[in-house]
Amino acid sequence: MMLKKALLWAQKELRDAVDRPRLEAEILLSHILNCRREELILKEIEDIDFNILKPLIDRRKMQEPIEYITNKVSFYDFELFIDKGALIPRPESEILVEEALNLIKHYNINKVAEIGVGSGALSIAIARHSEVTIEASDISDDALKIAQKNIDNFNLSDRIKLHKCSMGECFSDFDLLISNPPYIDPDFKLEKNVANFEPHTALFAPNKGLELLFKILEEIKSKDIQYAACEMGYDQKESLSNYAKELGLSGKLEFYKDLAGFDRGFVYVGE
Ligand SMILES: C[S@@+](CC[C@H](N)C(=O)[O-])C[C@H]1O[C@@H](n2cnc3c(N)ncnc32)[C@H](O)[C@@H]1O
Repeated sequence: MMLKKALLWAQKELRDAVDRPRLEAEILLSHILNCRREELILKEIEDIDFNILKPLIDRRKMQEPIEYITNKVSFYDFELFIDKGALIPRPESEILVEEALNLIKHYNINKVAEIGVGSGALSIAIARHSEVTIEASDISDDALKIAQKNIDNFNLSDRIKLHKCSMGECFSDFDLLISNPPYIDPDFKLEKNVANFEPHTALFAPNKGLELLFKILEEIKSKDIQYAACEMGYDQKESLSNYAKELGLSGKLEFYKDLAGFDRGFVYVGE
């Protein structure tokens, strides 16, 4: 099937399944042809193997995220490998990267720890834009494999070390703790494309999504962590603020918002 015809077919097939069928058809065809979307125009005479195209379109029609189908995701200023073993990094987490980079620059931080590395998106973005070394944990073997692949692709294995452990159990020597932990209430009804495909260990946390966030505050207290930056849910500010007071955290806890104006995370600077 010629590319032009394949594009029209794919667009039509996706019409009732996705918001932007033309764009997604182009993304899937450029994935098959291993070229950039803008280069499709130069490939009009390419022959597309329908046996390769159809299964990809079928997956997308079932609402599988396009990132898992193409094994690519854009984050910050680079592209990462991704598959269903790790959460697809979200644009709002780029704000967490910015917050971390601000702390690193302002306080001359050299050593960073990340809890819940997932695909490696946050650690890689931070390492690419600073000189720090990073220790990162995750409990998921699949996520750790994906993170290591991405770290190797960016030649950062001498600066980002991965550990299989829960929370920050496997590291203690660092100045800044960052995390985008699972923070969704298990009772919250997520969209099908998220709930049916992304790893639940990356999304949900007990106690209305607060369990890991509370543990992070507890780590800040017990390890006397000087700096921290952490993402959270839009409705968790009050619970976190109250828990920080209950723990007697004496530093400055400030909350930041995402681009839609929702509370999205906190930055902690110890006394
Ligand atoms: C929301 S995802 C974030 C992934 C990545 N940092 C990002 O921002 O795209 C949360 C990650 O935390 C991991 N995780 C869940 N519970 C954990 C725990 N107790 N200790 C360490 N990591 C954990 C999950 O496997 C998942 O990779």
